[in-house]
Amino acid sequence: MLGLLLSTLLLGTTALALSGGVLTSTDNLGRTICSVKAIGGGQDDGPNINTAFQQCSSNGRIVLDGYYVVDTLLFTTVLSDVEIELSGTVQYTPNIAKWSPQSYYMTYQNATTFWFLSGNNIHLYGGGTLDSNGQVWWDAYATNQNSGTAGGSSRTFARPVPLTVGNATNVLIEDLTQIGSPFWNNFVYQSSYITYRGINISSVSYSVNPTANSDGWDIYRSSYVTITNSTINNDDDCVSFKPNSTNIVISNLNCNGSHGVSVGSLGQYAGETDIVANVSVSNIVMKNAENGARIKVFGGSPYDNSTAGGGSGYVKNITFANFQVENVDYPIYINQCYSTDAAVCAQYPSTLSISDVHYYNITGTSSGKERGLVADLECSAECQDITASGTSLSPPNGTAAYTCKNIASVSQLDFKCTAPSS
Ligand SMILES: *[C@@H]1O[C@H](CO)[C@@H](O)[C@H](O)[C@H]1NC(C)=O
Ligand SMILES: *[C@@H]1O[C@H](CO)[C@@H](O)[C@H](O)[C@H]1NC(C)=O
Ligand SMILES: *[C@@H]1O[C@H](CO)[C@@H](O)[C@H](O)[C@H]1NC(C)=O
Ligand SMILES: *[C@@H]1O[C@H](CO)[C@@H](O)[C@H](O)[C@H]1NC(C)=O
Ligand SMILES: *[C@@H]1O[C@H](CO)[C@@H](O)[C@H](O)[C@H]1NC(C)=O
Ligand SMILES: *[C@@H]1O[C@H](CO)[C@@H](O)[C@H](O)[C@H]1NC(C)=O
Ligand SMILES: *[C@@H]1O[C@H](CO)[C@@H](O)[C@H](O)[C@H]1NC(C)=O
Ligand SMILES: *[C@@H]1O[C@H](CO)[C@@H](O)[C@H](O)[C@H]1NC(C)=O
Ligand SMILES: *[C@@H]1O[C@H](CO)[C@@H](O)[C@H](O)[C@H]1NC(C)=O
Ligand SMILES: *[C@@H]1O[C@H](CO)[C@@H](O)[C@H](O)[C@H]1NC(C)=O
Ligand SMILES: *[C@@H]1O[C@H](CO)[C@@H](O)[C@H](O)[C@H]1NC(C)=O
Repeated sequence: MLGLLLSTLLLGTTALALSGGVLTSTDNLGRTICSVKAIGGGQDDGPNINTAFQQCSSNGRIVLDGYYVVDTLLFTTVLSDVEIELSGTVQYTPNIAKWSPQSYYMTYQNATTFWFLSGNNIHLYGGGTLDSNGQVWWDAYATNQNSGTAGGSSRTFARPVPLTVGNATNVLIEDLTQIGSPFWNNFVYQSSYITYRGINISSVSYSVNPTANSDGWDIYRSSYVTITNSTINNDDDCVSFKPNSTNIVISNLNCNGSHGVSVGSLGQYAGETDIVANVSVSNIVMKNAENGARIKVFGGSPYDNSTAGGGSGYVKNITFANFQVENVDYPIYINQCYSTDAAVCAQYPSTLSISDVHYYNITGTSSGKERGLVADLECSAECQDITASGTSLSPPNGTAAYTCKNIASVSQLDFKCTAPSS
């Protein structure tokens, strides 16, 4: 009783009730507060967390300050004016047999998720952690190799994304750590006005098996997305702009071990139109990576049912500024023949156009893996208005080399291109 009274005074609440592990109260602003008590002993806290999402779905505040074991899909569709304080840890169980079918399916590249966060005006923050037990999934994947195409998941071995912001508007996510994602770390799906800042991502394997498809963020059918001030340690794209990512601002990222900040892959599906436009990427430290600033687009295809090239659309108004690279194989890279046979690509160039792409101040050292190569701009159909200034890239030894193919604006590059040798 004294405890209750004390909490009542401390929270400034007017009512207090405990049901199903969720403590609800009302603060002096009239907001409902739902505080979830961790059950402990390895029991599933998922149902209680979902109850809190329901009871505090509007003008509410949800407090997750414990260590939660989650074995149930987190699904939050109707949140409106809600704060979620995650100062504790959400640990998704390593139960592949259960999660693979029960994770929420979102069609694109067979992506599924542990947590579908949806609604308007949501603030998720608090210094807490999402721990997804990725190691178990990477080890299983190393054996079964059960994946989809071009970085996609598989329906029969669906590796969930720890946090999807889906069908949402006005969401701010900040000050969180994500460790061990089985697949992409974040998915921005059919959403707009979404901001992430102060996110620390670590997808690092401690066994001989590598992580798989450990992108920091994938953005799809979304606009007005901002990602800033974050650290990503992974083994796939640091950030990836998938079909229909528009009006995107990325800045102040520290990417290590990744495949770069990538537009694409795009143009995978014949008959589909993919648009990536109005993207600004700046102040990126890119270390030990395969790519720095990358654009990847499939080639064309003779087949109208192709799922490996032949899509159309455009990439336009993309800025990559102030990249500091170290030990990167391809610091600057455009590949419009991605995952496509060179002969097929020559006969069927991509119909997805690339234009208005600007590189400013891309500096540092490559890995030397491609010998002297530091920039590789290869289009299968002509790319227009590609410019570069302030480029200062060198290989670890020897002379820097730059290759270009089907670039209409070579005079607007501050380096001298040669044709690709093969
Ligand atoms: C989805 O998964 C199935 C296997 O379950 C696979 O055949 C298909 O290629 C995958 N689709 C994509 C787009 O990756
Ligand atoms: C998300 O939006 C799409 C398109 O409006 C709709 O078909 C789908 O049911 C929505 N999904 C959820 C979980 O809200
Ligand atoms: C960036 O993140 C650091 C460390 O988390 C924090 O101290 C700083 O205030 C953040 N800056 C911005 C602009 O968010
Ligand atoms: C990010 O998290 C990792 C693993 O939890 C930790 O080692 C590292 O210090 C953190 N980095 C930052 C910048 O917070
Ligand atoms: C950065 O990535 C490299 C290559 O994957 C790895 O060896 C190294 O430990 C990472 N550095 C940090 C600080 O995690
Ligand atoms: C992208 O947007 C265009 C224009 O609105 C639309 O025609 C196309 O179907 C969209 N593509 C995808 C993959 O959503
Ligand atoms: C290019 O994209 C940026 C956002 O990255 C936007 O501010 C600007 O208006 C766009 N310019 C044009 C000409 O579309
Ligand atoms: C890009 O930005 C310009 C200028 O704001 C705008 O006119 C255009 O519609 C945007 N493009 C897309 C695809 O959103
Ligand atoms: C496309 O259609 C052709 C001929 O009908 C068929 O042989 C092929 O397997 C199909 N490809 C895909 C990816 O469905
Ligand atoms: C490139 O670097 C120069 C010199 O540091 C700076 O003045 C300029 O603003 C930078 N360009 C961009 C687009 O940030
Ligand atoms: C150049 O650097 C690479 C990678 O560091 C190394 O393997 C190679 O032996 C070096 N070549 C020369 C001529 O120093």
